[in-house]
Amino acid sequence: MSDSIHMRHNGPRIRLQEQAGAPYETITVDRLTPMIGAEIGGVDLARPTNRQMDEIHRALAEHCVIFFRDQHLTQEQHLDFGRQFGPLHLHPAAPHEPGHPELMIITADKDSPRANGEGWHSDVSCDEEPPLGSILYVKECPPAGGDTIFANMYAAYDALSDRMKTYLEGLRALHDGEDNYRGTYANFGVQDRKTYPRALHPVVRTHPVTGRKALFVNKGFTRRIMDIPADESLGILAYLYEHMANPLFQCRFRWQANSIAFWDNRCVQHRAMWDYWPHRRYGNRVTVKGERPV
Ligand code: SIN
Repeated sequence: MSDSIHMRHNGPRIRLQEQAGAPYETITVDRLTPMIGAEIGGVDLARPTNRQMDEIHRALAEHCVIFFRDQHLTQEQHLDFGRQFGPLHLHPAAPHEPGHPELMIITADKDSPRANGEGWHSDVSCDEEPPLGSILYVKECPPAGGDTIFANMYAAYDALSDRMKTYLEGLRALHDGEDNYRGTYANFGVQDRKTYPRALHPVVRTHPVTGRKALFVNKGFTRRIMDIPADESLGILAYLYEHMANPLFQCRFRWQANSIAFWDNRCVQHRAMWDYWPHRRYGNRVTVKGERPV
């Protein structure tokens, strides 16, 4: 059951979902904002019980991105936690830990030419079946900075005008990994592939668990909306990117060593802050395979 609150703010109509579900019994859930994000407590992800896992699934569906503090997982335990949500995804380009292709390395330091995820994106949305979710475990943090910002794409969709929703209905967009990935990981010694994934996806997708509609175009991977003139596609995408970046849809997570963020790529975009040079940030991401967006 949910009650909706409508409010006018800065133009778009914002719809807050007030969850009135049953209380959680085996974990604690503290919202970061009414719109997105919750910090989960009372669980050791190295040994979650079945009931805790059920509630973590539910918290992810309700809050879109969930955070855990002070977790101490081996690489295997991190991978096992990811497998509880489905088979694991292999990144088409990024470096991984030796012997663990599913354990992506996410790091930047004083010698880095760039950091991962600096612009708004949904992970690997250029795949035919883009990832369901990503579980980033940060082990080393800079003294300040290196936050990640998350934005709720259900809320971004809900806040569109009815005319814009009608216009977007049935449109598909091209997502392409080429610009993002070619040469990007050369500093890690990664050789480029001949080609990188590209795929057509609906501009608005329906989440397979919640049944809610979410905006599914992002600056990182979406190149154009199909079957409309190129200049119209540019204009519509520019509008949607500005719209989805409204801070009302967002939460911002301040990392500490041994924190974990688990975001649902089907309804969330994120953006990492590289504001900590020359300091180092180091972590691993386990990514869970998803389904073809509909
Ligand atoms: C990413 O997975 O896009 C990187 C996120 C981050 O480093 O905070």
